[in-house]
Amino acid sequence: MDKIKIAIAGIGNCASSLIQGIEYYKDKDENDAIGLMHWDLGGYRPFDIEVVAAFDIDKRKVGTDVSEAIFAPPNCTAVFCPEVPKAGTIVKMGCILDGVSEHMAGYSENRSFIPSSEKESAKEDVIKELKDSGAEILLNYLPVGSEEATRFYAECALEAGVAYINNMPVFIVSDPEWAAKFEEKGIPVIGDDIKAQLGATITHRTLADLFRKRGVKLERTYQLNTGGNTDFLNMLNRNRLASKKESKTEAVQSVVGQRMDDDNIHVGPSDYVPWQNDNKVCFLRMEGKLFGDVPMNIELRLSVEDSPNSAGVVIDAIRCCKLALERGIGGILYSPSSYFMKHPPKQFTDDEAHVMTDEFIKGQRDN
Ligand SMILES: NC(=O)c1ccc[n+]([C@@H]2O[C@H](COP(=O)([O-])OP(=O)(O)OC[C@H]3O[C@@H](n4cnc5c(N)ncnc54)[C@H](O)[C@@H]3O)[C@@H](O)[C@H]2O)c1
Repeated sequence: MDKIKIAIAGIGNCASSLIQGIEYYKDKDENDAIGLMHWDLGGYRPFDIEVVAAFDIDKRKVGTDVSEAIFAPPNCTAVFCPEVPKAGTIVKMGCILDGVSEHMAGYSENRSFIPSSEKESAKEDVIKELKDSGAEILLNYLPVGSEEATRFYAECALEAGVAYINNMPVFIVSDPEWAAKFEEKGIPVIGDDIKAQLGATITHRTLADLFRKRGVKLERTYQLNTGGNTDFLNMLNRNRLASKKESKTEAVQSVVGQRMDDDNIHVGPSDYVPWQNDNKVCFLRMEGKLFGDVPMNIELRLSVEDSPNSAGVVIDAIRCCKLALERGIGGILYSPSSYFMKHPPKQFTDDEAHVMTDEFIKGQRDN
């Protein structure tokens, strides 16, 4: 079976974990493969994926083989597969637009993005690269708040006829206007904003669902997150944060029985703690009322390495996208979007989304 050919925009920590993972699982088999939701998905194993095109704007990444770029600073995620062979795919200079927040200039080079002085790619260059490389799916891993840059790459995917997986919270798949463009061209899309394997969102949603099912009224909740990677540094700029907050908050609001008043729910990235690097810590509190209006509360602290936590989910999203391509299905892939993403066009509980995705994989539903 041919490998699934992917292109990636943004070779940061998430791309690093994904590419390390594709290599890491080559040595495994179904019985010792820890950390995956599916070993075989529609005939594709986790390593049946190949990065054929890559775009970034950082001078330490542009012009290098993607297997080296993933270990270049400011990437700081766990190295669980140090020996990634050369891919023969050189990271091309992308188009910066609003990808780099101004406040990053106030931080050390090891912590922030340093734009390359190479000539930026125009739309035609990216489209040509996508076409020439044979890429079937473009993954968007740009920093939060990159509204223009995300749309730029989405347009490139549309014009190159390449499927699009939007792993970050600029709304494309959940924006009806953008989704319609993919529908019209019959190009599959999955989005928006990847939901980690066992992260703050899925934990918060699962507990909120439990409250609902057990008849506990959830009255107030917060989810505070800290981390020390460039994602958290970038999100110190509150002007870039609106869509991330909306995505994370809606992911929880959509599973509580009765929508909570905005003042009673606070969910978001909370601070940048450099020494945490790619370790993310989530502090969760939920206050509710039990039988007889008697109050209760729960507090939870979750500590995870941020980037590998979403990579296995992306490996499944890629394989679902490939199945759609093989089946000639275009437009929004509702089931995978609702299972794999925080802000899909249509929210379902995770149990429902799990069943729907399973049916999609088996070919029992179209999208
Ligand atoms: N870690 C997770 O589990 C998780 C979960 C949900 C969403 N996300 C989102 O995924 C995105 C990527 O996360 P990350 O941790 O890899 O971020 P990161 O900061 O490590 O990487 C971003 C990369 O994008 C590059 N970049 C900036 N502007 C660009 C442009 N215009 N064109 C091409 N490249 C550009 C940067 O140089 C950097 O390499 C973020 O938006 C994050 O919020 C991550």
